[in-house]
Amino acid sequence: MVRISSRNILPKKRAKELIRRAKRALKHAYAPYSEIRVAAVLYCANGHMYTGCNIENVSYSLTMCAERVALFKALSDGEKSFRVLLLYSPQIDSIVPCGACLQVYSELAPDIVVVTMNGRNEFRFYPLKTLLPKPFSVSG
Ligand code: THU
Repeated sequence: MVRISSRNILPKKRAKELIRRAKRALKHAYAPYSEIRVAAVLYCANGHMYTGCNIENVSYSLTMCAERVALFKALSDGEKSFRVLLLYSPQIDSIVPCGACLQVYSELAPDIVVVTMNGRNEFRFYPLKTLLPKPFSVSG
């Protein structure tokens, strides 16, 4: 828990709150097909936090990832500036956002640090640009 804050990404109290919210959001995951539950918490520059969880569909390709649920909730509330995305799945040892989420985040939240947490409360840190250094762009 403390390691997030020790990296100077977030104050300790905020880091704990993010983790608490991720664990709570995981309970709302709707994943009857893959049975993989994922939660995300997006931390905005103004301190606001938005949660997301994965929401699957019987028409599999309509499934929505936790990361994009959190981002779209934030954007639709008028949020514009983002700092950290906490991504949590107790079932995946070293989760990273999928390519579709990386592309979306690259356009709308390019400067975030992705912090991942697994079921053993181990954290990894990835500036978004290290996960997708060259997103698709029409401007070259
Ligand atoms: N999933 C996410 O929510 N985020 C990711 O970054 C990767 C995958 C979800 C989609 C699907 O419901 C389940 O995890 C298994 O792929």
